[in-house]
Amino acid sequence: MQKIGNLVGIVGWRGMVGSVLMDRMQEEGDFDLIEPRFFSTSNAGGAAPQWARNETTLHDAYDIEALRGCNIVLSAQGGDYTSEVFPKLRAAGWAGHWIDAASTLRMRDDAVIVLDPVNLPVLRNALQAGMRNWIGGNCTVSCMLMGVGALYKAGLVEWMTTHTYQAASGGGAQHMRELLTQFGTLHAEVRELLADPRSAILEIDRKIIDKQRSLSAEDMACFGVPLGGSLIPWIDKDLGVGKKAGEDGWGVSREEWKGMAETNKILGRGVAGQASAQESPIPVDGYCVRVGAMRCHSQALTFKLRKDVPLHDIEAMIAADNEWVQVVPNEREATLQSLTPVAVTGTLRIPVGRLRKLAMGPQYLGAFTIGDQLLWGAAEPLRRMLRILLEA
Ligand code: HSE
Repeated sequence: MQKIGNLVGIVGWRGMVGSVLMDRMQEEGDFDLIEPRFFSTSNAGGAAPQWARNETTLHDAYDIEALRGCNIVLSAQGGDYTSEVFPKLRAAGWAGHWIDAASTLRMRDDAVIVLDPVNLPVLRNALQAGMRNWIGGNCTVSCMLMGVGALYKAGLVEWMTTHTYQAASGGGAQHMRELLTQFGTLHAEVRELLADPRSAILEIDRKIIDKQRSLSAEDMACFGVPLGGSLIPWIDKDLGVGKKAGEDGWGVSREEWKGMAETNKILGRGVAGQASAQESPIPVDGYCVRVGAMRCHSQALTFKLRKDVPLHDIEAMIAADNEWVQVVPNEREATLQSLTPVAVTGTLRIPVGRLRKLAMGPQYLGAFTIGDQLLWGAAEPLRRMLRILLEA
């Protein structure tokens, strides 16, 4: 294979995912290996960031000619940008590598979902076969597979359910702000009562629910309903619109649909054009729930295993799978210390805990895992794919 050039166009570097990506690229010295060209959708001609070595100004992110000059384009700009620019760039004959955080291209046959600690063989095969579109996975799916991918790789999973506890950041930066503002509003409502140890808790509770129910449309502009002190058991679009009860897709949120579709695609199962396309998809299903966490997605998993494997063997397999996974002993203190969004935020650690055989029988395994959705859930697989391309 011909060596891939190192002129890398970077789009969407100022947003939340983009900023985390830039931080990680600096930490890992990625900028030493590339010639970055920074693009902007709103500030073309403005000053390029300090990491732009030989260039001082920002290029127009809609300038197809400027993008065409890049060997690789790395975008964290979002789906609308991808929808508008990617087809034009390919139509203009660009044969470079497109690495993207947005979901727009994810399920296309000519795109691979990147998560190299889990699917490096799939990525290498695709690269050899001439693939040029490399898309980051859904954050929940990527974090889940970083934790328990070992069980899939070993062929042990007959099916899996996942019940998620997803952070505000999955919606975007404004969603995090809205959550915190709601917490502040609620606290302000009962500040005086809280300060008085003799005040009645039911009085506080009544004032809080009254406030939650009377938040303005502006107070809930992102989530549509209060999230502070509540939860929302629906994430993303309703795929069941127009369908009848029992019909495929009825009652399923898009986030829940991604669980099975993307898990299998990452593993290269049942996906046209991939090595193991003949393998039937593994059923993955469950409920996706938004909770008042900031940027870590958590999930409770139930597996039906293909055979009864001793728990300590399962723990050993999971622990040995990659350098970021961390098996947390299924004990109260260890769980409280290591298996919470607060413990994991800002780290690349993927703790997997609460591992135990369930009451349904020895082939039923329970687990709980957490990942920072901006790191393994978004930025990290992209920068690692960039490295894979540069080293190919
Ligand atoms: N769809 C995810 C969420 C975010 O809303 O939490 C990114 O994959």
